[in-house]
Amino acid sequence: MSKTFYIETFGCQMNAHDSEKVIGTLEHEGYARVQDEADAGLILYNTCSIRDKAEQKVFHRLNEYKKMKGEGKKFAVIGCVAQQEGEKIFERAPYVSIVSGSASYRNLPQMLARLERGEERITGLDDRQTDETFETEFVARTNPHRGYITIIEGCDKFCAYCVVPYTRGKERSRAAASVLEEARRIADQGFTEIQLLGQNVNSYLDPSGKMSFAELLAAVGSIPGIRRVRFTTSHPRDFTKDIVDAIDAVPTLCDHVHLPVQSGSTAVLKAMNREYTRDWYLERIAWIKAARRNISITSDIIVGFPGETDQDLEDTATLLEAVGYDAIFAFKYSPRPNTPAVAMADSISDDIKSARLQILLDRQREIQRVNYNRHLDEIMELMVESHNKSRNQVVGRSSQNKTVNFTTNQLILPALGSYQQVRITQTFPNSLLGAAVEVN
Ligand code: 5AD
Ligand code: SF4
Repeated sequence: MSKTFYIETFGCQMNAHDSEKVIGTLEHEGYARVQDEADAGLILYNTCSIRDKAEQKVFHRLNEYKKMKGEGKKFAVIGCVAQQEGEKIFERAPYVSIVSGSASYRNLPQMLARLERGEERITGLDDRQTDETFETEFVARTNPHRGYITIIEGCDKFCAYCVVPYTRGKERSRAAASVLEEARRIADQGFTEIQLLGQNVNSYLDPSGKMSFAELLAAVGSIPGIRRVRFTTSHPRDFTKDIVDAIDAVPTLCDHVHLPVQSGSTAVLKAMNREYTRDWYLERIAWIKAARRNISITSDIIVGFPGETDQDLEDTATLLEAVGYDAIFAFKYSPRPNTPAVAMADSISDDIKSARLQILLDRQREIQRVNYNRHLDEIMELMVESHNKSRNQVVGRSSQNKTVNFTTNQLILPALGSYQQVRITQTFPNSLLGAAVEVN
């Protein structure tokens, strides 16, 4: 087998960052990454199983791989579908050599060595009870300005609909000193933005007992050279007021909190095993709104959970209005293998789920139209993310995580990753338009 690899990644930010670490590990083991699967000796497929029959899509894709088997290529299925389906993958796709969940990635060098010795059916599936995290200094960072750092892996919350506790294993946090060391290292390399990652990032519990999550946020935000710190995803259960106090106290912490509510109905929240009520959630929102800074709030929503009534849906719609979210990610409920909710009848038809989803999206659009309009004439600092040459515009992102397209009368467009002051001239429900405040 030639020591070249190709990797394809699906799923959340955690998965994307896992791939950055997997790539770094493979490169350290002497493998060279190629951009075309035809050139690769090893093909890795980093999978997601959160919704929508994801495992079927994986098997479909593996069928396409089958044709390449004769070319002497090896295949690895990693990530959430690998963990969920386990050895069944070898049965359905016997040409696969490695099946590994994310909790076993720290053993990748050994798995690769076994692969090179010609072993078949190598698994990394038994590590979900581990206390170890996957730490490596060999991270192939794909974004040159924003560095991702995992601070907590796994999940112990067991929401009734969710595969994550089964695919990513139990919650385990990295020592604060190790997180800060990585943050300093990437600041030295020129990154100005850091995003702290975790399935429940604010459930972070420093194993050395030195820092709370809010203290870690403040410490990362105080590293010289760091201008923006983001963190995702927060769980309402562990959302404490000191997080808001930290955002108020440390200007580099971005004024944005992603706090998924899932439903605005206390009855549905109970069935989902979210362990909070609508009022309890709204109390956390009140803390965020009482901050001195104007903190943007976003959420995830599931519609059509078993037993959801029209009134439950209306409760969700009124919650959207009460919070005034700047964005929501809304999904139709999808039954997932091994989760408690599969035992409940999936009582709501797909048509009704779609109709309910549309009701929420329509109501949310109106909320965002009003919210975004408040930015008219505001001057905000943006990080430049890309250039839209055809429109002669620059695309930037605000601290609140809003996208702004702007024009500049400078001959040379501002560099990617640079920061720019922009005045907002027009607003839309999902983006803003502006003009650079020119400095002479
Ligand atoms: N069906 C639909 N949406 C789901 N999510 C998680 N599990 C499911 C499921 N079984 C959504 C939640 C979560 C987001 C990442 O995906 O809203 O916050
Ligand atoms: Fe998908 Fe969840 Fe796994 Fe992320 S943790 S890859 S969203 S199943």
